[in-house]
This record gives sequence, structure tokens and C-alpha cells, in this order.
Amino acid sequence: MPWLPRRNPSGYNRFVPVSPLIAPSLLAADFSRLGEEVEAIAAAGADWLHLDIMDGHFVPNISFGPVVVKALRKRTTIPFDVHLMIAPADPYLAAFAEAGADLISLHPEAGPHLHRSLQTIRALGKKAGVVLNPATPVEAVAHVLDLTDLILVMSVNPGFGGQSFIESQLSKIAALRRMIDATGRHIHLQVDGGVTAKTARSCIEAGADVLVAGTAVFGQTDYAAAIAAIRGAAA
Ligand code: DX5
Ligand code: ZN
Repeated sequence: MPWLPRRNPSGYNRFVPVSPLIAPSLLAADFSRLGEEVEAIAAAGADWLHLDIMDGHFVPNISFGPVVVKALRKRTTIPFDVHLMIAPADPYLAAFAEAGADLISLHPEAGPHLHRSLQTIRALGKKAGVVLNPATPVEAVAHVLDLTDLILVMSVNPGFGGQSFIESQLSKIAALRRMIDATGRHIHLQVDGGVTAKTARSCIEAGADVLVAGTAVFGQTDYAAAIAAIRGAAA
């Protein structure tokens, strides 16, 4: 019957609100107190910690590297979701794996052989993600889905927190949801950039299941309330 929820082959149920995973982005934390910030966000109910790695070359900003990731790994057990905005990325994959990343995502533009990079991440025993810039088409990931555990849709141009959500990415999220469902495999669909309690719902409706939020979480005084607001708005 058409009004009943329909389960698609991947088990993702479009007609029942999903509870999104919330991955606060450390980029908006107080960098003078990173250890305490990581402990605080885990206690506030974060599902994952999103760590933005920027090299001042692939993106016009510099953040931190594997040494900092390794130091923070001691402060919490929640999964570390490492978003590489560096080129080349291949020479650093092992260092981030050894530092304690659980998932390593990279942009197709960061190197000549995305398939090989994903194989490398998997061989290191980590989950592998592909990140699509606002102008990068969904086809960039179409032929590597068997090596992909997560697709990240950038809803801002990477490099800085605090930017406005780019609405045109919603149709890309929906297209990727269809592409993922057609595989019959579970692949996370994550959105990063300008995610707030206001924009979260449209991301989830389009098919996302993991939301990254920097300013909307670490930029607030009450982290638990900020996470709950995004989760509640999305569900
Ligand atoms: C941007 C980063 C994001 C950023 C998001 O290049 O990839 O993770 O921290 O920040 P907000 O949520 O403030 O847009
Ligand atoms: Zn990010």
C-alpha cells in the first residue's frame, strides 16, 4: 500500500524520519583548549568528531595535522572522522591512520588516482570517504562506490567555517541517495558546511544521514543543547 513505509534495498527507509548522526567540526572549537573541547563534545552527545585537515594549498587555510589528531585520540573514544583538505593526500594517509582516525575522507581533486587512495585507506584498516566540492559532480564517485564507506557533500566551498549553506547541493544529496540505494550497500551520506538547526532538516529530507556542524555546535555555549537542536530539527 502506497502510504506504508517502503524499505529500499539498502534498508534506508525514506518515509520514516531517520535520526541523523551529528559530527561536530573541531574547526570551530577553542584551539587553546582542544583536549577539553573534545571531552566536552563527547559528553554533550556527539556521535563522531569531525577533524578538518587543511594545508594552505588545496584550500586557503591551515589547520592541524596528525600529531594533533594523535594527541586528541587519547581524550575520547568517539569515532574520529578525518576530512582531508590536502593535496597530495596519499603521502599522509598512513600517518592519519596511525594517529587514530576511524574514517578518512579525501577529495577526488587531491590526487590522480582516487581508486588507489581508497584502496590504501581500506588496507590501513580504516573506513574510506569521498568528498565532493560544490562544483564536483556526483559522477566523480560513481565508479568507486565499492570502495566507499561515506560520501561527503560540501555545502560550502572548503577552507573555512561559518559560511552560508549552498542550497544547490540539496539536489546533489538526493541524487547521491538514489545512487547509494541502488548499490544495496550501506554508505553514509554526510553534509558539511553551514549546517544549522534550520538547514539540517532539508539535508535529511534529501537523504543525508550524517551532519557536520562547526559554528552551530562549537560556536554555541551549550554544546548538548546545540547538538540536540540539530538532531531534533532534522528528525
Ligand atoms: C569547511 C570544513 C567544515 C567546517 C564547517 O571547509 O570542512 O567542516 O568546519 O563549519 P560550519 O559548520 O561553521 O560551516
Ligand atoms: Zn569538514
